[in-house]
Amino acid sequence: MSETQTTSTPWIRIREAAAHVGATVELRGWVAQHRSSGKVQFLVVRDGSGQMQCVAGLNDLSAEQWELGTSLTQECAVIVRGLVKAHPKQTGVFEMVLSHVELVGRAPDYPITPKEHGVDFLMDHRHLWLRSPRQQAILRIRAEIIRAFRDFMDEQGFTLVDAPIFTPNACEGTTNLFETQYFDDKAYLSQSGQLYMEAAAMALGRVYCFGPAFRAEKSKTRRHLIEFWMMEPEWAWATLGDVMNLEEKLLMNTIGRVLDRCREDLKVVERDVSKLERVTAPFPRLHYNDAVKMLQEAGRPFEWGGDLGAPDETELSNRYDSPLMVTHYPAAVKAFYMEPDPTDPRLSLSCDVLAPEGYGEIIGSGQRMSSLELLNQRIDEHGLPHSAFEWYKDLRRYGSVPHSGFGIGIERTLCWLAGLDHVRESAAFGRMLNRLAP
Ligand code: 4AD
Ligand code: MG
Repeated sequence: MSETQTTSTPWIRIREAAAHVGATVELRGWVAQHRSSGKVQFLVVRDGSGQMQCVAGLNDLSAEQWELGTSLTQECAVIVRGLVKAHPKQTGVFEMVLSHVELVGRAPDYPITPKEHGVDFLMDHRHLWLRSPRQQAILRIRAEIIRAFRDFMDEQGFTLVDAPIFTPNACEGTTNLFETQYFDDKAYLSQSGQLYMEAAAMALGRVYCFGPAFRAEKSKTRRHLIEFWMMEPEWAWATLGDVMNLEEKLLMNTIGRVLDRCREDLKVVERDVSKLERVTAPFPRLHYNDAVKMLQEAGRPFEWGGDLGAPDETELSNRYDSPLMVTHYPAAVKAFYMEPDPTDPRLSLSCDVLAPEGYGEIIGSGQRMSSLELLNQRIDEHGLPHSAFEWYKDLRRYGSVPHSGFGIGIERTLCWLAGLDHVRESAAFGRMLNRLAP
């Protein structure tokens, strides 16, 4: 057994320090900074839960340990022990008076230094870049968003159902499918779990899936990932209006949770939280026809019938502090499964939620087509193979009911809530057009 395991000194995480003031504890972490004046050493240790400054005077450590201390460099893995003290001036900040330092792993020439590095360099070293305080904060906020989503859906009585990743059919169009071999067959990586959730909703009433989605999109923008995570609720008997209300509640709840539980992390990423605090329900709702008018009045070259591009979304959403719900998009710019608007069949019962501050679409939603006849027609129009959709058509053959649902992207939501200006920071190992490694 190693010395660390036989000692009675408790191993704590830095975030628990407040409960251990006046006690001698052990920290296991990595060196964030080190400096020595010859008489006193300052060692900043991070352990993933926080950072703590550890101080040693010449008399606090043996000569050997003192030597060891001075040889430490950024990202050396260490075990330290010492007395926890409250910072004399800053409340909530704690320090350690070192009595023991142990080196577990050296980190010679650690590539990421406190100086500025270019984006490509950082992305090439993403496996190390994750250790920076900013990236840690982003990952924690991401985890909180996911937890908030899941808690909310569970509380609303939705059952988590996992959708498959290998699929024989396209959900969101055939142009961005990732094709892969499935023994003697072809399969695609899932673009969305929606179609499977529609089946599950007919079994359980209210369901949601949460998993990865893949889009072979040749778009190199601040918002597009090739692989992203999405939560997709599906609700039997619900109308478009019902799911829009649910989306609003989900977002209000998520903002509340992040503001409540991620204050420190939001500070680290320098998020202007007043912008989030200004978000209120009900969210503004804008019919596509009115959106077209607004865009044209703003001088944008937009024709009725087109899909909103990123600059159009920004133009519209910049007018509001809260997310903007744009409804009734033309059926032609939406997926095959959208229910037509009974008052104007050129339009669909759809809604995109556009986050404020130019973050753009974070939710895509709609009421699903209930008529088998029309579904057949749409499958033809979209050039989709009927054989792959027979099971989906069964949902219209056997006890078909109106139903609606939505998909919310985790990374886009995180970009908005954490104020990130590029999706590359929103996933631990983001997959982008020109990046598959590390
Ligand atoms: O609008 P989308 O494509 O909708 C669907 O996939 C539906 N089947 C969802 C449903 O109704 N169940 O995608 C939904 C959301 C977008 O609003 C966006 O937040 C995210 O998924 N998303 C992406 N995020 C990052 N990179 C991409 N390439 C994304 N494509 C979609
Ligand atoms: Mg969409």
